[in-house]
Amino acid sequence: MRIPTKIKAFDNAIDGGIPAEFIILVTGESGTGKSIFCQEVLKNVCNKKNKGLYLSFEQSVSQIKDQAKSLKWAIKGKYDIVSKYGSDVSRDFLDEFLAMVKKEKYRFLVIDSLPSLMINAPIFEMVENFKVADILGDNTIISPPIIGDSISRRFIYAFVSRLKKIPGLTVFLVNQTDDMENITRDHVSDFLSDGILLFRKSSIGNEITRSLHIEKMRETRTELIMLDFDITRTGIKILKNEA
Ligand SMILES: Nc1ncnc2c1ncn2[C@@H]1O[C@H](COP(=O)(O)OP(=O)(O)OP(=O)(O)O)[C@@H](O)[C@H]1O
Ligand SMILES: [Mg+2]
Repeated sequence: MRIPTKIKAFDNAIDGGIPAEFIILVTGESGTGKSIFCQEVLKNVCNKKNKGLYLSFEQSVSQIKDQAKSLKWAIKGKYDIVSKYGSDVSRDFLDEFLAMVKKEKYRFLVIDSLPSLMINAPIFEMVENFKVADILGDNTIISPPIIGDSISRRFIYAFVSRLKKIPGLTVFLVNQTDDMENITRDHVSDFLSDGILLFRKSSIGNEITRSLHIEKMRETRTELIMLDFDITRTGIKILKNEA
């Protein structure tokens, strides 16, 4: 089953919509429109029957509601919003959160974002549970950043695997990239995802041009791989391709 996002030109480019139960990585630099895109998709696909949840580690619930209001979106009753900051993330937070997602039978989940979850997540608890040799072997000379990297990747791998096991759940995982060469900073969430949407912006003089790149979409014949768009007063508008 495919889920039309109702962002029409985008749906057309991906064979009608996003396959259900996919993990979609939404990546790009800061300010490129990742959060707005995810909120707009939830607004379009969620209702009482198709429950959605937006988990933010970056914006408060009232900021997210105000943003929707400024775009003239009626989101009340469409999807739930949860906001967490560092001190709110307890040791058992992820276990409890994923259990709640299952119990409440959410069908759509946005996590905004993976890097800010990483900063807050209780992953350092995990360090106690395995030795450095478990990661790198016995005869390796190690340095702390390498250990940190391996732990982060293991965490992401485990976390995404747990998301994939929740039946009926489609996930938008927001990530960040800070250069043109890499899709992610972590170099693992891209391989684990079923689809990758890369958001870009550039400015010429006072004008900003934005584009959405379909970098990967499993099980899908993609028609166009790059869509130019604007963020208008009412949200994302895909521009006609001049070619
Ligand atoms: N109500 C609005 N009307 C028009 N444009 C808006 C509106 N709200 C946000 N924008 C534009 O969208 C941009 C931010 O988009 P968004 O918050 O989705 O970016 P992001 O990719 O999630 O960034 P970050 O990684 O920093 O969270 C703003 O900088 C602004 O240009
Ligand atoms: Mg954002």
